[in-house]
Amino acid sequence: MAADVSRDDQTGDKNSRRLRPLPLWLGIAIVGLLLIVIVLLGLLAVSVMERRWEAQRPTMVVRPLGEWEPNNAVWGQNYPRQYESYLRTRITDTQTKYGGAQPRDYLQIYPAKVILFAGHGFSKGYLQARGHYHAVQDVRDSARITRPFNPATCWTCKSTDVPRLMDQMGVAQFYAANFHDLAGEATHPVGCQDCHDPQTLRLRVTRPALVEAFEAMGRDINTATHQEMRSLVCAQCHVEYYFHTNEQAGRKNYLVFPWQKGTTVEAMLAYYDGVDFFDYVHPISGARILKAQHPDYELYLTGIHAYRGVSCADCHMPYRTEGGVKHTDHHVQSPLLNIANSCAVCHRWGEEEIRTRVEGIQAKVETARRAAEEALVYGHFDVAAAGQAGAAAAQLEAPRTLLRRAQFRWDFVAASNGMGFHAPQEAMRILGEAVNLAQQARVEAVRVLARQGITEPPRYPDISTHQKAWDVAQTFVRGEALKLLP
Ligand code: HEC
Ligand code: HEC
Ligand code: HEC
Ligand code: HEC
Repeated sequence: MAADVSRDDQTGDKNSRRLRPLPLWLGIAIVGLLLIVIVLLGLLAVSVMERRWEAQRPTMVVRPLGEWEPNNAVWGQNYPRQYESYLRTRITDTQTKYGGAQPRDYLQIYPAKVILFAGHGFSKGYLQARGHYHAVQDVRDSARITRPFNPATCWTCKSTDVPRLMDQMGVAQFYAANFHDLAGEATHPVGCQDCHDPQTLRLRVTRPALVEAFEAMGRDINTATHQEMRSLVCAQCHVEYYFHTNEQAGRKNYLVFPWQKGTTVEAMLAYYDGVDFFDYVHPISGARILKAQHPDYELYLTGIHAYRGVSCADCHMPYRTEGGVKHTDHHVQSPLLNIANSCAVCHRWGEEEIRTRVEGIQAKVETARRAAEEALVYGHFDVAAAGQAGAAAAQLEAPRTLLRRAQFRWDFVAASNGMGFHAPQEAMRILGEAVNLAQQARVEAVRVLARQGITEPPRYPDISTHQKAWDVAQTFVRGEALKLLP
């Protein structure tokens, strides 16, 4: 019944609302307006596409680029926007709580490092990295470059001349050469050639070590997606590595990324243990130490951003719009100096909130890092004391191995840029294990000391400043070890 009524109502309604035709002038006006809108939209689309095209490729290549053109300024004639923003990596007066382009002196801030790297180049000079523009100058000035010979391998991540030299000399010959012999050849700092194909401008990998590391893992880097390439161009240099020498295989100081068993800290340690590699024998404890380089890419891989497909370039090379033209900002720097473009495009938090969040994460990592550092320093002295008490090398084997494992973990985080931000949970996990292993080393050493009849704690020296730590370390380096026994 109710249905019938409603049907009747609908019929009645329809009759009462019969449409009257529009006046002709209004129809013509609407059609006209629509046409204008369509034409305008079309023009807009064309202009947007032209601008995009213009941004990505020059309308006219001013100067064709040779296959190995190393000079950034020559590329810059074709791509002025990218070049101008690249040139800003020259700036060195920016600072954030833990980063920025102003090179901090790590050994002043963390005197414990002078002890942990005792006898190794990193205890002589260790400055925080600055912009790509300075890469060549900074490696030349580095206190870690030795004379008269230093492996040419050190040029690999510093200069756009490297792909050309490798092509000329052969890769193995390049690595085997003397750094100082190539100083006149490698003059252009990290730049366009390192990341781009000069003809198509597509992202490309120019460093064989990354290609070979993928092969060692059973992967083909040529199948990487475009988004992966936006991180892999960085992974040519911002990674853990070592120099491999095997005279029979004709390899001297050959650059290798230790990824054969994977890219986690444990996988790399297992690899190094497998090939029995160490960077130096610690002059205080006698442990065979691995110096971690800067495993930025590897640590990043374990974080939430990598998991969600966010690339290095997304944060460090965000898009920028200038005069209506969108392009990639080539001023690679701390994203905290450009939060609006780097983070706020994805995160709708305020700028201050983002900064506070990052600094909060970093401060926690730093606390854990200092805890690991302290345990390690005590560990080296405890083992040294056990040695001074007359313990045999065999007795010191266990605590020394524990120190090696602990220190590589600590350094994996400490040497990574960004104070753990790239993967905070993984950084904290690794540091937690570092503290645990270092304390185990101390327990072992104390047992050895007890067996030698010593139950009082060793006399730990004052290492609270760079100078004090240096003087203490030098006594061991010179073989006139400071007496630690009570
Ligand atoms: C989600 C954004 C994000 C991604 C993705 C990212 N980073 Fe970072 N990166 C940061 C932040 C934030 C810092 C800390 C900057 C600071 O403390 O001033 C940082 C710091 C750094 C620094 C030190 C800069 C400085 O001034 O101290 C380097 C080098 C770096 N990242 C390299 C990389 C590389 C290489 C990748 C990819 C493998 C990567 N980053 C991926 C956000 C990111
Ligand atoms: C560390 C790696 C790196 C270096 C060095 C580098 N680029 Fe790029 N470049 C990129 C990335 C990443 C993109 C984004 C590409 C994409 O996602 O397709 C890019 C994009 C571009 C584009 C495409 C348009 C745009 O802005 O997105 C041009 C042109 C370009 N770069 C020119 C240059 C020039 C010129 C230099 C040297 C002055 C240079 N690049 C140095 C990584 C680099
Ligand atoms: C060819 C090697 C190479 C490549 C490729 C490379 N870098 Fe670097 N990067 C370096 C070196 C070397 C330094 C240190 C330069 C110095 O201190 O003189 C550095 C420094 C930096 C810094 C510190 C700058 C600052 O102001 O604090 C950041 C951030 C950075 N790189 C990020 C990246 C990102 C992101 C990529 C990929 C898009 C990348 N790099 C690709 C070699 C490279
Ligand atoms: C391309 C997009 C993108 C960019 C750029 C980006 N992020 Fe993220 N970020 C994400 C995604 C996606 C997540 C994961 C969120 C989730 O899955 O809930 C995330 C997670 C985070 C988290 C962890 C949140 C939590 O509670 O675990 C922090 C902190 C963060 N981002 C900070 C930053 C900072 C700082 C920058 C700039 C340096 C930045 N992000 C740039 C996409 C981005």
